[in-house]
Amino acid sequence: MSTEKEIKRVTTKALSLLKKNGIKISALTAYDFITAKQLDQAGIDVLLVGDSLSNVFQGNETTLPVTMDEMIYHTRAVAKGVSRAMIVVDMPFMSYQLNIDEAFKNAGRIMKETSAGAVKLEGGKRVAETVKKITEYGIPVMGHVGLMPQSIHHYGGYSERGKTIEEADEIMNDAKAMEDAGACAVVLEKIPADLARKITETLKIPTIGIGAGVHCDGQILVTPDMLGLNTDFHPRFVRYYAKLEEQINTAVKAYINDVKNSTFPSEKESY
Ligand code: KIV
Repeated sequence: MSTEKEIKRVTTKALSLLKKNGIKISALTAYDFITAKQLDQAGIDVLLVGDSLSNVFQGNETTLPVTMDEMIYHTRAVAKGVSRAMIVVDMPFMSYQLNIDEAFKNAGRIMKETSAGAVKLEGGKRVAETVKKITEYGIPVMGHVGLMPQSIHHYGGYSERGKTIEEADEIMNDAKAMEDAGACAVVLEKIPADLARKITETLKIPTIGIGAGVHCDGQILVTPDMLGLNTDFHPRFVRYYAKLEEQINTAVKAYINDVKNSTFPSEKESY
């Protein structure tokens, strides 16, 4: 039996089935219609409309500036290209931290105004009550622990988390708190592979790693990073599956050359 082939639309139930059957979950980010369509057609399981769009789409240094309206705008575009993948949407900075009602209202807005299958928010114990309330009302939540980019000014940098025993315990407890609060999965970002393995073995819900080693139930990367579109940024957890930066540069130079030399358009390309 191939569970993957039987899944027509990836849902929270499908994610737990994949974990149960030991089938890894593939996840990537998407911020626009055409990319989402290609990733979905290739068979990706989860598409995250990540708040990383603040960095890679809007050119900001951190994920903090992106707004609820912008997340919703991008998710609506992504949703038009997707027929199989589960769409997960990051709740942006300050859309869920203020109080539980505000978080619930914003999670509801994402679900009502887009075709998302889940929202994602950063934090473990500190957001457990919020996650409980949102999930109790039928909105699936993906947690995010370890390195949490919305807290970057608190950490003072993007270095690995969970290297000390205290920090590793805290991350384990945060992941458990997400499961207890009803989360359907949890992202583990930039933590030691051994800690990610322990968390993955402890939790019933799937773990999705980024810079967290091979033992997680699934993996996620930021799409422009893995396509080699953003080579200024190359942490060791990013593997290049293409070098689109080079290819785009070559293609655009060829186009400019053809325009300048009047070899584009040809007769066949004209009316
Ligand atoms: O915003 C994002 O792209 C993310 C992934 C790095 C997990 O949260």
